[in-house]
This record gives sequence, C-alpha cells and structure tokens, in this order.
Amino acid sequence: MTVTIKTPEQQEKMRVAGRLAADVLDMIGDYVKPGATTDELDRICHKFIVEEQAAIPAPLNYRGFPKSICTSVNNVVCHGIPGEKTLKSGDAVNIDITVIKDGFHGDTSRMFLVGKENILAKRLSTIAREAMWLGIEELAPGKHLGDVGAAIQQHVESHRYSVVREYCGHGIGEVFHEDPQVLHYGRRGTGMELREGMTLTVEPMVNAGKAGVRLLPDGWTVVTKDRSLSAQWEHTCLITADGFEVLTLGAHERP
Ligand code: MF3
Ligand code: CO
Ligand code: CO
Repeated sequence: MTVTIKTPEQQEKMRVAGRLAADVLDMIGDYVKPGATTDELDRICHKFIVEEQAAIPAPLNYRGFPKSICTSVNNVVCHGIPGEKTLKSGDAVNIDITVIKDGFHGDTSRMFLVGKENILAKRLSTIAREAMWLGIEELAPGKHLGDVGAAIQQHVESHRYSVVREYCGHGIGEVFHEDPQVLHYGRRGTGMELREGMTLTVEPMVNAGKAGVRLLPDGWTVVTKDRSLSAQWEHTCLITADGFEVLTLGAHERP
C-alpha cells in the first residue's frame, strides 16, 4: 500500500481541482430536467470542463470509459454511461464529475431529483448524503479508516437501507484512484490510521433494498441485483492537522 502525503503546494492544487469539479455540478443542475438525455448532460459538462475551465474530464478514456461524466439513474449504483436515456419526472440521477487540473484530480458527485418530488428517492438520497457527511466528520489524524466505514454503515443500516460493498472511496491526487481504499462499512479502530496531508474520497453507495450489485455486459454500469433504488454522494477531502477540509464544496457551501 503506497499512500501519498501531499505537500502544501500539492494540497493547493487539489483545492483548485476540487473547486472546479464542484463548479461543474453547480452548473449542470439547471439542465437536469424531464426530457433531458444523459448524453446531453455529458456534452454540456464536457464543453464546460474543456472550454471554460481549461481542465480535463478524467473519466474520458479512463480504462476505456467512453464518456466525460458518469450518470447513474435510479437502480444504477455507479459508473452509468451517458447515452440516449431520457430523464423523466420522479427519476433520481447521480452525476459524478472528476476533473484534472494542473495534474491533480478533483472528484465529487451529487444526487439530482428530476421533476416532481419522489418521496422514496428523496428519503434515500437524504440518508446517503447524511451517511457521507458522518463519514467525513470522522476524518482526522490518528483516526482509522474503520471509523469512517462504521459511521456510514451504522447510519445507513439504522434506516434499513444497505451499503454497497464492491465499490469504495479512494486516495486521490496525481492518480485518479490511489491507495488507500475507503470502505463504507467496517469496525471502529480498525484499518489504516489517517495522517495529515492525505487526500481521499468518501462516496457511499446506498441501496433501498439489498446490498447486492450486478455489472451489466457493457462492462461499466453497476446496478442493484434486486432492482431497488440506489443513491450516492461523494466529496474529495484533505486530512488537516486538526481534522479535515472538504475540497469539493459547492459555491454556496464554501466558507
Ligand atoms: N468518479 C468515479 C469515482 O468516484 C470513478 C469513475 S471511473 C469511470 O471514483 F471510468 F467510470 F469514469
Ligand atoms: Co471517487
Ligand atoms: Co467520483
């Protein structure tokens, strides 16, 4: 396991990349409406990242991924490929943005609820978001990765939802997915100890039904085995001397 500690200069580049990724999510919200296709959202984000931000959409061609963003609708857990699919009222879509700026990655995702309110999707999305924040709030030097996983798992399961096991958060920096793996379940006091200067993502995937997932034949799209709804939120975080700094806050959440 090779965990990188970022220097203050590298941390500053991570802040810039994180801010840009969050700016893309802020921008795309207005376009997530009934009738929009996931391909349209991909094209808008791609153009914004390349032309306005002079940055690189990290997913494009990453291990053969064909698009610039991931769009995961309803029972799609993660890594949904943008395409002809038209969004309809009541859908819940996760949009996952990763940009590279000056050699460093910023990775963040949010849920968007399409059209009129879908109570079940809203409830699941809220619990997934709360779980992500409870995990993030565990981050500090001396704490263990198991503390993060335990906080997330406890919240999700107390609401009788389930945590996906096959995909996890990750270290991030000059490399998109680096060590350590950040599991979204676990036991307190176990796993790697955190240190100042680490940067990692917290990105729990929460299913309304059972935890099991299935990979579609396209080799990317991950769906729930029982076809239940799934929700995910993601932030990129820096471990600071006294806790954490979230690098991918939206413009309206920044201090
Ligand atoms: N952004 C995803 C993550 O949170 C990874 C997407 S990989 C892709 O780690 F190839 F599907 F884009
Ligand atoms: Co990630
Ligand atoms: Co992501």
